Amino acid sequence: MTRPAAVVILAAGEGKRMRSATPKVLHHVAGRSLLGHVLEAAATLEPEHVIVVVGHGRELVAAHVEEIAPWALTVVQEEQRGTGHAVRIALADIASRGISLDGGPVVVLTGDTPLLTGATLVALVQEHDASLARATVLTAQMSDPTGYGRIVRDETGSVLRIVEHKDSSSVEIMIDEINSGMYCFAASDLTRLLANITTNNSQGEEYLTDVIGFLRDENAVVAGSMCADSNEILGVNDRYQLAEAAAVMRDRINAQWMREGVAILDSATTWLDVDVELEPDVTILPNCTLLGPTSVAAGAKIGPGTTLNSCEVGANASVIHTWAQLAVIGADATVGPFSYLRPGTVMGTHSKAGAFVEIKNSNIGNDAKVPHLSYVGDGDIGEGSNIGASTVFVNYDGVAKHRTTVGKHVRIGSDTMLVAPVTVGDGAYTAAGSVITEDVPPGSIAIARGKQRNVLDWVLRRRPGTPAAQAAQAAQEATAQEEK
Ligand code: UD1
Ligand code: CA
Repeated sequence: MTRPAAVVILAAGEGKRMRSATPKVLHHVAGRSLLGHVLEAAATLEPEHVIVVVGHGRELVAAHVEEIAPWALTVVQEEQRGTGHAVRIALADIASRGISLDGGPVVVLTGDTPLLTGATLVALVQEHDASLARATVLTAQMSDPTGYGRIVRDETGSVLRIVEHKDSSSVEIMIDEINSGMYCFAASDLTRLLANITTNNSQGEEYLTDVIGFLRDENAVVAGSMCADSNEILGVNDRYQLAEAAAVMRDRINAQWMREGVAILDSATTWLDVDVELEPDVTILPNCTLLGPTSVAAGAKIGPGTTLNSCEVGANASVIHTWAQLAVIGADATVGPFSYLRPGTVMGTHSKAGAFVEIKNSNIGNDAKVPHLSYVGDGDIGEGSNIGASTVFVNYDGVAKHRTTVGKHVRIGSDTMLVAPVTVGDGAYTAAGSVITEDVPPGSIAIARGKQRNVLDWVLRRRPGTPAAQAAQAAQEATAQEEK
């Protein structure tokens, strides 16, 4: 395959139908922007230059390109006067930077086709090479070609011209082979012929597609490279198409992981971002969303109903009905159901976070357990320690956050308030219901609660006639009877 001199990506359009404050190409599919997917596919061609034409929301789009693809150039198209105009100003800008495009063909792509693959682009350039064509159009067969430009071929099968839906005759409108809006051109033709483009059409725009007709006027060969999977060229214009593209991408990503040995029980409700990494023998139960660079090691079970954002899950861990972000879950650990792990949570090997447990910025040691109804914030829990139900790490004094340290093999009694900063030494206990404000030495038990006092017959005297008083009366009579 000839290495392209440049790939030009058209991304200046407004995307009005998205009805969004966010520029269209910055909407996401599987954790990557629409434009990001196209840049990724373009990179497969190893082009000398990548130029993104920006217009609407240009500051945001240009900043995004700078962030995810600093090797790409952006060119501003002030007014969107058509696809031909966009490519024309991109080439003019390149020339003004003293960059020559003699080295190879120029590939033109659109920024809103997230399902495009690098393999399809390689096939396009290979076909361009093999057919010795001056231009090759990426085409697809569509059951409903409404809105797309139609590919008119001659008797030899060469592309004769591309006619826009709005400009097509009653015969042309029946053609189901459409223009993807992606092409491979000889660079010299493109610069030369774009100069001849007019706005003589129903939309009053400079059509890039007219270049194809001009080439034919010069008796040049124009090839059409048909894309086997028409999904690849689906452009996203509205929220419905965004969801459709996301669903196709989801199935594609899931199929790839299943082939690599991951068990996905319900592909329709399993959403994996492109940067997720899974090892063989991971099981993903229904209704799971794995976002960002989340990684899951072999044998771990995720879900049902779990969302992990940028988390690391160790081998054989289990994470049920959990919401976690920037958390590390050790091998053999169990999390959930109904756990909330916030950034900075690091759970050791074979540790546990149980039902209705929230953990933030804390280290849970190997074999340590936080089984029920607790908040652990800014804490360090040593290995083998157990945190009783309803314990709170009281980390915030209203002004600043403080840390709590719990040593190894500690038993924190149920409903303990650990008022930070505070340290509970190795092997210590706290009594249930304690409010711990002072450090507990290793091996001690801390009891920090009021002593119990029973006021006898208070209910009989102060709540006479109530069901409680009646029950108490009956119980006292029964005891008296037994004692006789
Ligand atoms: C274009 C093609 C049509 C093809 C379709 C595929 C032309 C004349 N028609 O039509 O044959 O079937 O794509 O989707 O090319 N853009 C700019 N600057 C502009 C105009 C457009 O950057 O001045 C960008 C848009 O943001 C978009 C892409 O180019 O990403 C395509 O533009 P659009 O106006 O959607 O072209 P279509 O009318 O769909
Ligand atoms: Ca379009």
